[in-house]
Amino acid sequence: MQAKIDQYTSEINAFQPANADELESFRIKYLGSKGLIKDLFDEFKLVGPEEKRLFGKVLNEFKQHAETKYQEWKESFETKVQNQGIETDLTLPGEGIELGSRHPLSLVRREIVEIFKKLGFTVAEGPEIEDDWHNFSALNFPEEHPARDMQDTFFIKKGGEKGDIALRTHTSSVQVRMMEQGKPPFRSIMPGRVYRNEAISARAHCFFHQIEGLYVDENVSFADLKQTLYYFVQELYGEGTKVRFRPSYFPFTEPSAEMDISCSLCKGDGCNMCKGSGWVEILGCGMVDPNVLENCGIDSKQYTGFAFGMGIERITNLKYEIKDLRLFSENDIRFLKQFQSEIS
Ligand code: PHE
Repeated sequence: MQAKIDQYTSEINAFQPANADELESFRIKYLGSKGLIKDLFDEFKLVGPEEKRLFGKVLNEFKQHAETKYQEWKESFETKVQNQGIETDLTLPGEGIELGSRHPLSLVRREIVEIFKKLGFTVAEGPEIEDDWHNFSALNFPEEHPARDMQDTFFIKKGGEKGDIALRTHTSSVQVRMMEQGKPPFRSIMPGRVYRNEAISARAHCFFHQIEGLYVDENVSFADLKQTLYYFVQELYGEGTKVRFRPSYFPFTEPSAEMDISCSLCKGDGCNMCKGSGWVEILGCGMVDPNVLENCGIDSKQYTGFAFGMGIERITNLKYEIKDLRLFSENDIRFLKQFQSEIS
């Protein structure tokens, strides 16, 4: 018996089927219901207990070996056949092109823009490289006033026609450009990238994105501001989200406020995201300071207005519970892909 097993093993090892027919003959010869391996097992039934002990394992291993070989050849023929199909059948569909995904910041920006569009706000844009006038002076930041330190600035060039040239630190500069160029009423939002000279960490970056809003007309009041932002929050975070306004300071608004919403994660019970308070701050706002209106050639006795500004990163972090700002600009496909399902 051992001699037969040895002989068959070397035959199998030397065998190399050229096509599927040869492989099928192999199967019939060795593995078939009347094949050589079946014969061996029949023979095995007749041997004495001593030999049974000796050959049982060997025989099973041999059968296993033949079957594995057969499976390997079979699979290699199958893939060959498949590939042949691809090479020759030009009507087969091509390989799917992997779709990209929208950046989470773009998704959220679009969502915010859509909400304000429903209220009749248009979208305005302006340059990222700004002069001192549009970024600071027109917005009532006094010369050498410490308020300018609130926003650490990247300066590009000293002393242009309208003051030092810098990367804009907020999109409020677009409000100035808009008011200078047109006549009230204004009802616009200004999305865009802004820059501040900060060390990059999980919580701060040297650039980020804002959406600011401006509404100037006759008889615009703080009540209008509150109602507009209240509507915005209900649309973005869902009905029942609470808001609260805390007094604050910005050079370009008077009075000024910061707006908090009830924490979207714990619904106000207190959690990590809201540091246990139940509230999270999402934006700054206020009534446009009359000085700003006058700086832009608008009669502050006839017109009033409100303005607000928010960081898109902040809103996105709260929405998707993202804890590290750096993820937005690292282009890590594993991060970006998680927002694929949101494509519309
Ligand atoms: N420009 C302010 C900032 O960047 C935000 C703001 C805009 C506040 C409009 C009030 C009114 O922090």
